[in-house]
Amino acid sequence: MHKNLVIAFGGVSPEHEVSVLTAIQAASAWGDDNWKIIPLYISKSGLWLTGDHLLELESYENISEAESGATPCHLTAAADGSPVLVFKSGGFLGRKTALRIDMVLCAFHGSDGENGAFQGLCETANIPYTGSGVTASAMGMDKRIAKQFCRLAGIPTVPDVLFSEQQWVREQGQLITQAEKMGYPLFVKPGSLGSSIGVYRATNREELIMGVESAFRYSTDLLVEKGIEPLTEINCSVLGDGEDLQTSVCEQPIAGGEALTFEDKYLQGDGEAKGMASASRLIPAPITEEQTKKIQQYSLQIFQAMGCSGVARLDFLMHSESGEIWFNEINTIPGSFSFYLWDATGVSFDQLLEKMVSIALKRHREKNSRIRYHDVNLLSQKAVKGIKGLKRSKGER
Ligand SMILES: Nc1ncnc2c1ncn2[C@@H]1O[C@H](COP(=O)(O)OP(=O)(O)O)[C@@H](O)[C@H]1O
Ligand SMILES: [Mg+2]
Repeated sequence: MHKNLVIAFGGVSPEHEVSVLTAIQAASAWGDDNWKIIPLYISKSGLWLTGDHLLELESYENISEAESGATPCHLTAAADGSPVLVFKSGGFLGRKTALRIDMVLCAFHGSDGENGAFQGLCETANIPYTGSGVTASAMGMDKRIAKQFCRLAGIPTVPDVLFSEQQWVREQGQLITQAEKMGYPLFVKPGSLGSSIGVYRATNREELIMGVESAFRYSTDLLVEKGIEPLTEINCSVLGDGEDLQTSVCEQPIAGGEALTFEDKYLQGDGEAKGMASASRLIPAPITEEQTKKIQQYSLQIFQAMGCSGVARLDFLMHSESGEIWFNEINTIPGSFSFYLWDATGVSFDQLLEKMVSIALKRHREKNSRIRYHDVNLLSQKAVKGIKGLKRSKGER
């Protein structure tokens, strides 16, 4: 009997479109016929939909048609506790179907799909899912926490000042003085977002104030960072779980990381969807062997210390002249699952997916083999009697 793999993607996120591409790429690269692929698409407005056409790129040319031709669905645990995708099959008068689910491949980028929220839903319904768990996902999405965590682990990070909206109202002058001590240019970033949205470069006080006020539209907490210029960006991917980890070759993105235009992301000359794989980049990054090793070592260390799982991409900033390296951010669900980095490392896309799924199954088995509750009923009649604040049963009144 075949197994059912739900590819979950889209989402209420600024990176919605990149996620659609990651999902379509993964579905095309999937090589194991023992699994049937079922799309779970979350629309920009938060509708949960399924339907085979949702894994075809052409469907997204007319998004409202794609949505109206799809079937509302949700993931949940069935009465016996097993994970199911529930939807109505066979049109308007269709029956409610609960399809058994064996695995969810998380292909979201940004927001609730990558910050641990969706992962929490899977945990609650006991659904095996790929990628990092709740805690690592949440830490990875919050730039302030990820940086603090790296500092504690002894990994260099760019100096910054944290700005909260309340502080900004109360003590703007003080915050500005603190930030200016780092010297311009400064980079203003929302605490957690992604895709270069809300990131501003400020070269003077006026631009700083403007950048901060714009960034507060996206987040109540900001990072104001010392600008590294001239800058070389270097990324590295890590694959595995626990102590069984490997690093990919490094890449040097050229077009400013994820700051791609819509055309960059979607419309390559040959009409193929390339997602993050289409960005201009140098693979392997033209840096020294020593720098490569250092970045791979930092990547491993961070991935392991944060308790990440599956595949992640770690982004670093390097001063182009001094060669000094700082951790910038971690993407616990990287665009295109970083398959182009693994391809260049000797792991094909279908092998990468297979590994992600086998790690997820292993983690799920481990979770369910642990003691997760007491076998003794602490609420049995005897134990409960005498607890203050409980309503008494009728007989006792
Ligand atoms: N401290 C910095 N110095 C110089 N450039 C920076 C700095 N921080 C970010 N950038 C530039 O801004 C881009 C987006 O910032 P990043 O922290 O990666 O946010 P995002 O989550 O939006 O990708 C980076 O790819 C880099 O080009
Ligand atoms: Mg980035």
